[in-house]
Amino acid sequence: MDYNKYVANRVKGVSFSTIRYFFNLASQMPDAISLCIGEPDFVTPSHIREAAKKSLDEGKTSYTPNPGIIELRREIAAYLERRFGLTYNPEKEIIVTIGASEAIDVAMRTLINPGDEVLIPEPAFVSYGPCAVLAGGKPVPVPTYMKDGFSLKPEVLEKFVTPKSKVLVLNFPNNPTGAVMSREELGAIAKVAEKRDLIVVSDEVYAELTYGVEHVAVASIPGMRERTVTIGGFSKAYSMTGWRLGYIAAPEGLASEFLKVHQYSVACAPSMAQYAAVEALRNGDEDIKRMREEYDRRRMFVYNSLKDMGLECVEPKGAFYIFPSIEKTGLSSEEFASRLFDEVKVAVVPGIAFGESGQGFIRISYAASMENLERAMERIDQFLKRI
Ligand SMILES: Cc1ncc(COP(=O)(O)O)c(C=O)c1O
Repeated sequence: MDYNKYVANRVKGVSFSTIRYFFNLASQMPDAISLCIGEPDFVTPSHIREAAKKSLDEGKTSYTPNPGIIELRREIAAYLERRFGLTYNPEKEIIVTIGASEAIDVAMRTLINPGDEVLIPEPAFVSYGPCAVLAGGKPVPVPTYMKDGFSLKPEVLEKFVTPKSKVLVLNFPNNPTGAVMSREELGAIAKVAEKRDLIVVSDEVYAELTYGVEHVAVASIPGMRERTVTIGGFSKAYSMTGWRLGYIAAPEGLASEFLKVHQYSVACAPSMAQYAAVEALRNGDEDIKRMREEYDRRRMFVYNSLKDMGLECVEPKGAFYIFPSIEKTGLSSEEFASRLFDEVKVAVVPGIAFGESGQGFIRISYAASMENLERAMERIDQFLKRI
């Protein structure tokens, strides 16, 4: 049967992410080192796992309210207030989602009408463009540059705004560049958003992973709360990727509409994961600190090693990625990643996987053991000397 004719054009319009390509190759080869995946290499802290087990032992296995259990929504509201000075009503302005991934999809499907333009600063996390397309929108890449430390510049953004622009996606700390934007820099972007009447979808899943700089929540910039959808998650901060839990915090007028999309597509997030997340928010600060310190150590090691090899890179201030330029090797990002894997068995992601602006770069995740990072840096050094 020719299934092609049955598949909606929207879906045909998106392709699989290439991030997993090298990861899959590496996982089949015992001696290969994978620095591809955006996933903490720690197991979820035991007190958080215990909280999930307890909820199961107590028989809390039913559907939860659509926006999530109220204890969790209250903890999320308290956390956002405590950490970033944001005030959200847990009854009406917070929705617990199946990872930040579902939150991105819900935001796009709720906001986008056919043909609406979604401004996406690039290089960008791989979901925004496809989610915009699946919602009927048109992704509009907005480049960020190494010379600006991969911050989004207002004058660059302005060039891409049209009367059809509706949503601006922001993701700082950034995947894949590790860039963090200061309050001042975000203030300049906020002015454009206000002037051009954009809704900002701010994916802040790496909010807890900044090194020596503060994370500024976009909604905390004066005038931005009313036009910002804040997306947060548990995967990165608490090493809970498999639990599939995140959230949206937004003004009531938007949150009530998001809730419809969430309700009809997933009903609610998994109950045991929600109980675990309550524990994470109540007693997980020390875990975050411990993991952040470890990432920081690895970050500086990788940054210094790459610089010593002569690769130009911006010091990443957040998340757990570094995005060196490989331009001077004369190879494209795909050729570089491909040869690096074939010749020295180190898997990284070609920058092009994050959009055209990623050409000439590779993404290295330092969410890997120090031992693997040390071995990988030696191999990259050998490879660079050879080519
Ligand atoms: C920027 C960004 N947003 C969202 C996600 C998805 O997170 P979650 O596991 O909460 O769905 C990721 C995962 O890599 C990410 O890097």
